[in-house]
Amino acid sequence: MDVRTAAPSDFEALYQIGLATPELRVSQTEQFMDPDEFAYAIVNPLAVFLVAQTESEITGFIYAHAKDANKPFQNRYACLVYLAVLPGFRRLGIARQLFVRCEERLRELGITHIYSWANSEGDLGIVHFMEQQQFLRGHQYVWMDKKL
Ligand SMILES: CC(C)(COP(=O)(O)OP(=O)(O)OC[C@H]1O[C@@H](n2cnc3c(N)ncnc32)[C@H](O)[C@@H]1OP(=O)(O)O)[C@@H](O)C(=O)NCCC(=O)NCCS
Repeated sequence: MDVRTAAPSDFEALYQIGLATPELRVSQTEQFMDPDEFAYAIVNPLAVFLVAQTESEITGFIYAHAKDANKPFQNRYACLVYLAVLPGFRRLGIARQLFVRCEERLRELGITHIYSWANSEGDLGIVHFMEQQQFLRGHQYVWMDKKL
């Protein structure tokens, strides 16, 4: 298994993994992310977008938005937007490898802190994973959205 930077040609495979991962979807009505925004995330210079790749397929990905990278702040935050591993490849350390590489890249971009919204329904798999990576739990919120 290799971890590499995502490329525009990965879009279709990655978007399909996103659609097939219900935990990524926060809205009742909208998809986990619109295709055009997702495609932009792959090439955004202020994003770290990595994929886990076996010889034949992509098994997971991580996307973090380094939104404060160029800001004159003492603490510069990145948002861990998505982390997903295909069900048949979980508990093999793939998410951990993706996250460790992502953290390295974010540090290189000058990021000092990372936060994320973690799904607190179901088996809490992502919460346990993040605690294992030394994230601390904050408060819980309910996602709300409205089409304008
Ligand atoms: C959460 C997720 C990314 C973890 O991927 P993974 O490759 O299976 O994680 P790893 O194998 O690297 O796990 C590392 C450690 O995290 C913890 N962990 C991971 N999944 C866990 C689970 N379901 N329950 C409890 N602990 C878990 C364990 O401590 C694990 O170490 P161990 O297997 O030696 O006990 C994966 O389950 C997933 O894609 N879930 C659906 C998508 C999701 O919820 N994404 C977050 C929203 S953006």
